[in-house]
Amino acid sequence: MADLRIDFAGIQSPNPFWLASAPPTNTGYQVQRAFEAGWGGAVWKTLGEPVINTSSRFAAVHFGGQRVAGFNNIELITDRPLEVNLKEIAETKKRFPDRTIIASLMVEPKREKWHEIVKRVEAVGVDGLELNFGCPHGMAERGMGAASGQQPDLVQAQTAWVKEVAQTPVIVKLTPNITDITVVARHAVKGGADAISLINTINSLAGVDIHSWNTIPHVGGQGAHGGYCGPAVKPIALSMVAECARDREVGVPISGIGGISTWQDVVEFMLMGSTGIQVCTAVMHHGFRIVEEMIDGLNNYLDDKGLSSVMELIGKSVPRYSNWGDLDLNYKVVARINEEHCINCNKCHIACEDASHQCIDMLTDAAGKAILQVREEDCVGCNLCSIVCPADGAIDMIAVDTGAAPMSWNQRNQIISGLGSSYSEVEVG
Ligand SMILES: Cc1cc2nc3c(=O)[nH]c(=O)nc-3n(C[C@H](O)[C@H](O)[C@H](O)COP(=O)(O)O)c2cc1C
Repeated sequence: MADLRIDFAGIQSPNPFWLASAPPTNTGYQVQRAFEAGWGGAVWKTLGEPVINTSSRFAAVHFGGQRVAGFNNIELITDRPLEVNLKEIAETKKRFPDRTIIASLMVEPKREKWHEIVKRVEAVGVDGLELNFGCPHGMAERGMGAASGQQPDLVQAQTAWVKEVAQTPVIVKLTPNITDITVVARHAVKGGADAISLINTINSLAGVDIHSWNTIPHVGGQGAHGGYCGPAVKPIALSMVAECARDREVGVPISGIGGISTWQDVVEFMLMGSTGIQVCTAVMHHGFRIVEEMIDGLNNYLDDKGLSSVMELIGKSVPRYSNWGDLDLNYKVVARINEEHCINCNKCHIACEDASHQCIDMLTDAAGKAILQVREEDCVGCNLCSIVCPADGAIDMIAVDTGAAPMSWNQRNQIISGLGSSYSEVEVG
């Protein structure tokens, strides 16, 4: 059995599975039940000045038969007094000394406020701090959360204030509601962050009720933008993790968050540079016990790959993630239809005719049977037919040898500019 322990910026955790700061980490009762189920760590529901929440504050996007494809909320940070949370953190840590407890913090951007809360939470034995510069609603209107997180200089300054007094590792949680996440990540590192976590929720409006004309959710007929999370945001989160992981000026451990619900998601985030991961929506949907399958799945995967430690996964796919301009323009795949699996639904033909390059023909074979056939010389290898195909194994995308040497757009440009502007692009292989 492989070793699932991680060392996250000096924080030792029995496995990479942490609960994200959110409703499942609101109380000691919940976090202790999560630890009983097997979670390696928990980032406590964000601490700060207790808030008043709105009633009616969650909504979900159900899509194509999948419930909670996306989740939207207008909840704020903890609504419980700091002393109560601190007492329960201390009790939980005492009962589960081997598990990781991170205190998520959000206060006004004032040095003394940060100093005060850091000292108070560290006194009860947390393993680390997560600075919440991410909540997109409510707290932002008070100059906190995403309002801080969208100002790189303010992120740097606040991180530095925390580092002046912190005894434990400091994780800066980033908002995705920004043009380039690496800019804020770099400022967090300049401020002294030991690690970053991402993503917090994405600005969203879950929907509009076409009968009442109210927003979803609404509070007495009035709505406001919320934060989006759950399976729908995973590709966005993964790309932001990848951007930070490959950025040399970031260079600190990453806690990956956003749409994670299976062990396969965990492996993807770790391959893309996360040292550990955090989960919220999947637990809100299915409960704490999903971690059992995550642990089993990850164990089996590591065994199958012959890896002795989960740490060996970290960042292995990062070198395979670059810019479009570095991709080989001479690499070619074509679609091949496997007749034994094809159910002749014609979806590939329609997609190719209407939205791609019109290269899937509807033919009749010698026995009079309808078949679909790809004209490979006209296929551009876009993958669309294999994406819309509902029959597993009916369409494979096969790499074909074009005989041409690898050539990226950047390499082409270098050659063309080296040869002078009169040189025709067509002549470059
Ligand atoms: C209802 C709700 C409340 C949340 N509250 C917090 C919070 O207090 N602090 C925080 O840093 N993130 C908060 N989050 C964001 C999550 O920690 C996490 O970053 C986000 O949901 C993405 O992960 P997921 O796709 O696994 O849900 C909250 C999310 C939800 C759905």
